[in-house]
Amino acid sequence: MKMSKRLDKIPPYLFVKIEEKKDELVKKGVDVIDFGIGDPDLPTPAHIVQKMRAVLDSKEAVNYPTSKGEFAFRKAVSKWYQKRFQVELNPRDEICCLIGSKEGLAHLPLAFIDPGDTALITDPSYPVYKICTTLAGGEPYLLPLTAENNYIPDLDKIPADVARKAKMLFINYPNNPTGAVAGKDFFEKAVNFAKKNDLLLVSDLAYSEMGYDGYRPSSVLEIPGAKEVTIEFHSLSKTYNMTGWRIGMAVGNKEAVQALATIKSNIDSGAFKAIQLAAIEALSGPQSCVDENRKVFEERRNVLIEGLNSLGWKLEKPKATFYMWIPVPKGETSATFTEKLLDKCGILVVPGNGYGSAGEGYVRMAITIPKERIAEAIKRMKEGGIKGQ
Ligand SMILES: Cc1ncc(COP(=O)(O)O)c(C=O)c1O
Repeated sequence: MKMSKRLDKIPPYLFVKIEEKKDELVKKGVDVIDFGIGDPDLPTPAHIVQKMRAVLDSKEAVNYPTSKGEFAFRKAVSKWYQKRFQVELNPRDEICCLIGSKEGLAHLPLAFIDPGDTALITDPSYPVYKICTTLAGGEPYLLPLTAENNYIPDLDKIPADVARKAKMLFINYPNNPTGAVAGKDFFEKAVNFAKKNDLLLVSDLAYSEMGYDGYRPSSVLEIPGAKEVTIEFHSLSKTYNMTGWRIGMAVGNKEAVQALATIKSNIDSGAFKAIQLAAIEALSGPQSCVDENRKVFEERRNVLIEGLNSLGWKLEKPKATFYMWIPVPKGETSATFTEKLLDKCGILVVPGNGYGSAGEGYVRMAITIPKERIAEAIKRMKEGGIKGQ
């Protein structure tokens, strides 16, 4: 067999290795406290599951869906965006259904990147932007996110020739893995940068509904004129605890949405119609389930951050996402601290450098486990003599 050279360029997906390591330990009988992948442990709200059941009992959903999604789904997305962000989207051509936002983000570079083209990608970042740019033959140009720049890229530092030839800029606020948030001032800057350099601004808004202490993240599309240059991704995965259902949406610039739909129509045949119909229920039905989620994660965040601070860290509570970006103690690296937590305390975290080299010196902890388990992790760290900073 002769594999493609393309395959040599991509590492195994970060979580594949982490899951293997966890399985190994569990087999040895270790009670692993898992702050790893970031998959909500809370159930999908009952009214969404009920809708799915009813659709399955009818014959509505047996046929091929269209790859860009049922019109009714796109209409529900349009209404949700209107209500949540006061952004108008035409369901005909400004919205495309996705089999989870990862699918759309992964396919998008195929519509914009030719071999040798540049995409501007933050470092650290959700790995899909970089890997799928590379798979399309493109070259990622990395924009470091650091504590000093509040994990927001300094667009003024991008050399003019790089900016001019770049085809895409990926941003993701609220951010995975740093938990950082960005305000409309940065979004406006990013939109202007995209216009000036004639590139596509890709806004990954997967965590817009996970803001705490009353904070409600904005959409880039709220910036006047943003639609001229922006495609935005959202997903029902985290908002409604539906990661396994695989449903999301790309919205915004008509040409970009249609280009993605063209790629998709040649690759997949869309999300299962029953899931799209259940997703309509999620987007249009009562939103109290989202508030309840926020409350649970806010409480967990408090337990973890206050617990770590009691061990010597000096962390601020992040305003959004279920990711805590934790600097490793002095003398440790991302890898050594990850290993120490696992071997000494049975605690699984993700090394920050798995998200890019600028993530070195950090680990990411996803609070997708009950608060009692988080408290237990703090207890184990204390007993194991783990001290922050
Ligand atoms: C920043 C970000 N974008 C997109 C996704 C993909 O989510 P999904 O494919 O479930 O919609 C994730 C998943 O963890 C993520 O962290």
